Amino acid sequence: MPIFSGKRILLGVSGSIAAYKAADIASKLTQAGAQVNVILTPGAEKFVTPLTFQSLTGRRAYTDADLWGGEAHVLHVGLARQADALLIAPCTANTLARFAHGLADNLLAITALANTGLLVLAPAMDGGMYDAPATQANLKILIDRGATIIGPAEGHLASGMSGRGRMVEPVEILGHLRLALGRAGGLAGKSVVVSAGGTQEPLDPVRMLTNRSSGRQGYALAQAALDAGAQVTLITAPTSLTPPVGAGIIHVETARQMLDAVLKASAHADALIMAAAVADFRPTRAARNKIKKRDGIPQIELEATEDVLEAVSARKFRVKRPKVTIGFAAESRDLLLNASEKLKSKKLDLIAANDISAADAGFGVETNRVTLLFADGTQESLPVMSKSQAAETIIARVATLLET
Ligand code: CTP
Repeated sequence: MPIFSGKRILLGVSGSIAAYKAADIASKLTQAGAQVNVILTPGAEKFVTPLTFQSLTGRRAYTDADLWGGEAHVLHVGLARQADALLIAPCTANTLARFAHGLADNLLAITALANTGLLVLAPAMDGGMYDAPATQANLKILIDRGATIIGPAEGHLASGMSGRGRMVEPVEILGHLRLALGRAGGLAGKSVVVSAGGTQEPLDPVRMLTNRSSGRQGYALAQAALDAGAQVTLITAPTSLTPPVGAGIIHVETARQMLDAVLKASAHADALIMAAAVADFRPTRAARNKIKKRDGIPQIELEATEDVLEAVSARKFRVKRPKVTIGFAAESRDLLLNASEKLKSKKLDLIAANDISAADAGFGVETNRVTLLFADGTQESLPVMSKSQAAETIIARVATLLET
């Protein structure tokens, strides 16, 4: 996750049972290359220890004991100034109230007061405390000041009751944090539409024609565009993947639905990236009832589907949108020849060609080996890399194309 690489994240942990989940957040951020400084409130220390965080981050974790130590007069200022973001997870009702009213009675509260950067809070408290007018008013104060509030989620609470107050799960918290960090990126203010996954064409109520696309490359492109600060719409055929936090999601199944959704979403977009594997043929008629074995082997007549990119390009002459159109070419032979033909016939600005016959590229695998072909005739061969890395490179080229 390069968005976290080299970033200085200050993780504040306050006194909730969800404090044990903060260890997972610290671990994931560290593994993603961030430099994580942790501050525990006295309440947090009752649930977890500084050693837990020191072991995970390889860095010292701070407590109120440090407030009265030798470096105390500068510690909070230093920690706050260095941070790219201050993430409080879990954030109790009490810590929330401290921040809202500018109290400075523990190291975390003092540091938050000195912080001028991003403030991201993941509340965790009992449902009744969350609903309390005082908590709601405090949340409003912090939102008005520009803080990002994540959750809380509905579900089982420590009190044994059920309601709104659970801390959002670490993976989702990190999604929100990267969204906040990416906001000032190279695609800030731009809108990007990404399509992903393999469309499904019904034969009858239980059967369909589909393909091997996992959706991974498209989802990685949506995430990379979000990391670069874009407003992202992800139009997805069914996949087993979790959509990135912050993307507007449109679910489709068939090529026809994909066409309608892409035409609508891209009418005002800056860029369209068609990573979806759209069916080229569909059964002329989908049987209303299940096709029965006893009726013999069916003859299935197929008809051509609409080509989404061709439809977008045909409309572009009128609406001038999307400004940049990117396609993918999945080929098992004559890779560059076929890809450059698609680049021209679909009137694209860029096509990412991948050889699906290679074991390390294409459908269903984690990695990809992509050659980028630009409308001006230039080519760029990328080495084998993860689909996330390929996505980051493509998004960087989209940003350049949008500048020119
Ligand atoms: N595509 C599309 N609409 C279709 C089929 C494909 O918009 N009905 C898009 C894909 O999303 C991709 C690009 O066109 O970005 C190339 O898709 P690909 O399947 O490689 O090419 P096809 O045009 O379908 O040609 P062929 O299958 O014969 O190689």
